[in-house]
Amino acid sequence: MEIRSTTADVDLGGATYVVGVLAGNEPAPGAEDALGSADRKQIEVAKFEGKPGQILVLPHPEAEALMLVGLGDEVGYESIRAAAGSAVRAVKTARAVLTLGQAPIEGVTRAVVEGVALGGYQFRSYKTEGEGSSVELVELVDAEDDEVAAALIGTEATNLARDWGNTPALDKAPATLAATIAETAESAGLRVEVWDEERIVEEKLGALLGVAAGSDRPPRVVIITYEPQGAVAHLGLVGKGITFDSGGLSLKTAAFMEEMKDDMTGAAVVAAATIAISRLGLPVRVSTVIPLTDNAVGGNATRPGDVLRPLAGPTIEVLNTDAEGRLILADGLGLVLRLEPDLIVDVATLTGAARVALGDKIAAVFGSDRDVAARILGAASRSGEDFWEMPLFKGYEKSIESDVADIKNISGGRYGGAITAALFLSRYVGDTPWAHVDIAGPARWRETTGEQVKGSSGVGVRTLIELARSMTESG
Ligand code: BES
Ligand code: MN
Ligand code: ZN
Repeated sequence: MEIRSTTADVDLGGATYVVGVLAGNEPAPGAEDALGSADRKQIEVAKFEGKPGQILVLPHPEAEALMLVGLGDEVGYESIRAAAGSAVRAVKTARAVLTLGQAPIEGVTRAVVEGVALGGYQFRSYKTEGEGSSVELVELVDAEDDEVAAALIGTEATNLARDWGNTPALDKAPATLAATIAETAESAGLRVEVWDEERIVEEKLGALLGVAAGSDRPPRVVIITYEPQGAVAHLGLVGKGITFDSGGLSLKTAAFMEEMKDDMTGAAVVAAATIAISRLGLPVRVSTVIPLTDNAVGGNATRPGDVLRPLAGPTIEVLNTDAEGRLILADGLGLVLRLEPDLIVDVATLTGAARVALGDKIAAVFGSDRDVAARILGAASRSGEDFWEMPLFKGYEKSIESDVADIKNISGGRYGGAITAALFLSRYVGDTPWAHVDIAGPARWRETTGEQVKGSSGVGVRTLIELARSMTESG
C-alpha cells in the first residue's frame, strides 16, 4: 500500500473518498462540501451519528464511493488516527482519498499516516487463500510531503517489528532471526555484528548460556551500531529476544504458553527503532544489543537452584526458569554498558505482573531516577503510545537476595513482580542513567480497533524514535 500527499482538486474517479464526521453529524474540517452533498435522509436511515469508528458508505457524483467515518466528540490526534485506521480497513476500492488531514491540530499528517499505515497492516505470510485488503494507493489531501515521509519511517519500523513478532517460533530460531535482523539493518546502512554460540561462550555470557542450555537451537547476540557524523549523544538499547518461552523446567501451562512466540518483541522493537533512527538521520549514536535464545526444556536445561554467572555484575541463583528474560537482559545490559552510552533503555515482555498492574494497552516504565522516567514518558506521549511510570522501589530489594548467590531471579512473593524484576535489572547498569520498559501487556493487541490490529503491536518503536529525537535537542 502506497501512501502519498495530494491536493484538494485531485480527480476522485474510481476512488473511495473518505471524510470525517463529528458526533451529531457535524462535518470535520475538510468534510464540509462532501457532507453537504450527501443525502441526509440516507445518513439518518443508516443511524450514522459520527460515533468513533462508525462507517457509512454513500454514493458520490465524482468518486466511486463516499465514505463517512465517525470521529466522536472531538477532532484530535487520537480520534483522527483511529478514524483513519478504521476507514482504511473498510475501503473496498484500490484507491482512497482522505481529507482527514485537514483538521487544524498539531501533527495531523502523522496522525493520518499512522492510522492508515498501522490500521491497514496485515500479516498474511501464512494464509494460502484470499488477498486481504484491496487498497493499493492512499492519497492524503493537503498533507506535507516531508511530514508524510517522516511518519512513514515510524510506521514502517513499527510494522517491521509486528512482522517479526507475528512470525511463528518455528520460523524464527535465534540464528534465523539474528540473520533476518542483521540483513535488514545492514541494508539500511547500519553496522551489524552477530555472535554465534562459540563467541558467546568466549565472551562469558553465562546467563544467556544458562537460558539457552535447554534448547537445540543455539543462541545468538546481535549488536547493531548507528554512528552518525557529529553525534551529540549516545543511546544504548537492549531488547529481550526470547524466541519462544516455554518456561523451561519451570514449565508454563498450555494457556500461558499460547502467546509466547512474541517474547522477542523487545528485540524486534529496539532493532526496528534503530533502523528508523538511522533512516531519519538523527545525530545520535545508537548501540543496540539483542540477546536471542529459546527458553526450552531439554536434558541439559538449567535447573531451579543452579547458579549462573553473567558477563558482569551479581551472580544469579535461578529459582524459577520462567523468569528468564531478566537473565538474558543481565548479559545484554552488561554488554551495552561496556560501550559507555549516555542513556540505556531496555525493552522487554518481562512480567505478567506488569500486565496485571496496567492491563493490555499500557507499557510500564521504570527509571534509574524519576527524571529518566520522565524523559521516556515525554517521548511516549509525543509518539502517541501509552506508557505509565512505575516505582523502582528500593524497599523491595531485600526480596531478591539469595542464600547461595548474590541475587536470585524471583522474589518469592506473589506481589510486585514487575518492580522486583526491574530491581533485578538495575543491578546490571552501574551508575548509567537507565530506563526499563516492560511491554508484557501491549506487545500484542487483542482486538482490531483504530490504528491497532489484532496481533503483535510494535509498541515502543515510535517512542524510542521520539526519545532519540529528544536527545538531539538536549545535546
Ligand atoms: N515472557 C514472560 C512474561 C509475559 C507474560 C509476557 C505474559 C507476556 C505475557 C516472562 O518470561 C515470564 O514468564 N515471567 C514470569 C516471571 C515469574 C516466574 C517471576 C511471570 O510473569 O509469570
Ligand atoms: Mn518466562
Ligand atoms: Zn519470557
